[in-house]
Amino acid sequence: MNILVTGGAGFIGSNFVKWLHESAPEVSITNWDALTYSGNLENIKELLKSPRHRFVKGDICDHNLAEELIAKTSMVINFAAESHVDRSIDGPQKFITTNIQGTFNLLESTRKINPKIRFVQVSTDEVYGSLGSTGKFTEETPLAPNSPYSSSKAAADLLVRSYHHTFGMDTITTRCSNNYGAYQFPEKLIPLMIFRAQKNESLPVYGDGKNIRDWIHVLDHSRGVWAAATKGKSGEVYNFGSDNEWENIKIVKELLKILNKPESLITYVKDRPGHDRRYAIDSSKAQTELGWKPEISFEKGLRETVNWYLANTEWLTSVTSGEYQKFFSKWYN
Ligand code: NAD
Ligand code: DAU
Repeated sequence: MNILVTGGAGFIGSNFVKWLHESAPEVSITNWDALTYSGNLENIKELLKSPRHRFVKGDICDHNLAEELIAKTSMVINFAAESHVDRSIDGPQKFITTNIQGTFNLLESTRKINPKIRFVQVSTDEVYGSLGSTGKFTEETPLAPNSPYSSSKAAADLLVRSYHHTFGMDTITTRCSNNYGAYQFPEKLIPLMIFRAQKNESLPVYGDGKNIRDWIHVLDHSRGVWAAATKGKSGEVYNFGSDNEWENIKIVKELLKILNKPESLITYVKDRPGHDRRYAIDSSKAQTELGWKPEISFEKGLRETVNWYLANTEWLTSVTSGEYQKFFSKWYN
């Protein structure tokens, strides 16, 4: 079986392809990634010589490449995206192009070239918007995205839905909560805080620090995507989460404890515009229908993640380019 994975040099995609390569010897992977600022061949260097993994550098908006690669595959799994909310506030255009136009190109090319194959769209819980202090997102929660990032993902989800209903394409959509783990680009909360605390730099906590996210280990998410891809019912949406809600400030304090650094590094900064207050995921459908459940405890996963970043300072240096410095300098320098 040959599967086409897009965005497989980014954080979740690289963890997914490495996990799949090891767990499913019958699967060959074509890994198509544009290597934007968040995609890095360092993330998949173990696979570059494998006969069961082929890396193709390119943009998911490229029609010719889409048709060529989709002709040779029996499943498409689309991880490729612009993924950072703050960047979408800073400059939404790329999010519209990659997340909407890119997904459209993959769907349309699949319809034209290989309409019977399964198309898996890796989406996010952010498409559901923001929760008050109670309740959880289910697959039936209406879409109410609040940022240019989440609205571009919601638009892509709706296109996927329409290709199932109108053209009968075999689609699956997954919606997961916040991932953590190794190889996450250090612009997202957990790696950013580790990176800065290590250097004794201030830790920018947005607003009052009481926004809540539901954290899941990236390998639990990876297993979920594969379970949905192989066992999911055509046209369905599956939520993934770990029942692990944390206020941001509590996560930051926990990281400081693990790193043995002082809380005086914490600095409250101006809030993110339109900042969603709380995410919480009900993943009972995936648990019941796919036999999936999260396996990595947050306590163990977070410690291992911190240790990974401490042991991989060269990776951190190599991915934090000039563009990274430029992006963050407006707030923190
Ligand atoms: P990431 O930013 O780390 O990786 C994105 C990858 O996509 C990079 O390798 C990048 O080079 C590639 N890419 C970007 N634009 C491209 C294009 N036009 N053509 C080809 N490749 C392109 O993101 P991530 O955190 O790994 O997220 C992966 C997917 O999972 C995204 O679709 C995201 O919406 C979704 N997701 C993320 C989370 C999370 O917590 N990070 C949670 C749920 C869902
Ligand atoms: O819920 C899934 C989503 O999780 C994914 O779809 C996105 O791709 C992913 O980026 C993530 O979005 P968030 O906006 O929740 O993640 P981020 O790591 O950017 O922020 C987590 C929380 O921490 C959020 O409430 C904002 C806050 N924060 C973030 C940064 C970067 C800070 O307080 N300070 C910071 O410097």
